[in-house]
Amino acid sequence: MREIKIGLLGFGTIGTGVVKVLQDNAQLLQDRLGAKLTLARIADLDIQTPRAVTVAPELLTTDADAILSDPAIDLVIELIGGYEPARSFVLKAIANGKHVVTANKALLALHGAEIFAAAEAKGVDVYFEAAVGGGIPIISAIRENLCANRFTSLFGILNGTCNYILSRMTNDGDDYGAVLKDAQELGYAEADPTFDVEGIDTAHKLAILISLCFGTRVRFKDIHTEGISNISALDIHFASQFGYRIKLLAIGKNENGQIEARVHPTMIPDNYPLADVHGAFNAVRLVGDFLGPAMLYGRGAGMDATASAVMGDVMAISRDMLCGVAGRTPALGYVPEAIKDLAIKPMD
Ligand code: HSE
Repeated sequence: MREIKIGLLGFGTIGTGVVKVLQDNAQLLQDRLGAKLTLARIADLDIQTPRAVTVAPELLTTDADAILSDPAIDLVIELIGGYEPARSFVLKAIANGKHVVTANKALLALHGAEIFAAAEAKGVDVYFEAAVGGGIPIISAIRENLCANRFTSLFGILNGTCNYILSRMTNDGDDYGAVLKDAQELGYAEADPTFDVEGIDTAHKLAILISLCFGTRVRFKDIHTEGISNISALDIHFASQFGYRIKLLAIGKNENGQIEARVHPTMIPDNYPLADVHGAFNAVRLVGDFLGPAMLYGRGAGMDATASAVMGDVMAISRDMLCGVAGRTPALGYVPEAIKDLAIKPMD
């Protein structure tokens, strides 16, 4: 039976979830693939702290190069997060002919063009379903199932931490600081939670969705970004008195080639489906010219849901490898020559 060897960079919350899927569902994965997925190596700076899974000690290394330069490894899962060294590691994996699966929205929002160009030149895949919406299959829906549509708008609740904080402040009257701490303990928040609460993580995800939906590159700094750290219990109280819920919303519109891209707390009428998204759940409402409106909804953060998305990508690339067609699909669903540079409308 053919074997596909995986190297894992980053053994934190999501990395642990990925190992759990590989261990718990090993037979299922093998039955669905007709090949064996082998976790060959795990690299992390901390290989001492016990995790919620047990792995053979010889799999662990503090040297990422033991994965990136190992010719036996077919596919690298990057779950380090942040810009560097993730960018260098991903570029090195690509240069060495390895397919890449990443959950790193920050990396793709800022360096996606460089990474996808390198992957296309080398003929390897970079898949990133887990970068947006946690377990929700939003990337593959846009790239595949809905790709016959011209998209006009997208609205998203894209940060589980913020939605969890706002939900608990709204529903239980809980204090902002205490809830943020819980979100960190539950494994929802980024290593630096400023990225969550200041809207930066949502803006990273919006940049990715805009590229996929509208076929353009987005300069991340052009996205108007405002987080939830200034939302008080009083704001939430008044909003609810008037029949609204406050959500951190990502908004992307394409009006005749003019792109609107913004992230900010938004009052949503409480009879709208997006107002009914609670806890660490995410939702994306898209409008396609033939599809009309559609909404995808599910767990947007946390170990298990995000690991599910990562492993979906691993399975998709593995299937393509087994068919000899991996690395042949344009990463954004557009051929590179068709990608346009559309201006982002400044905020009034
Ligand atoms: N910190 C992110 C969130 C993790 O809370 O949504 C998932 O991308």
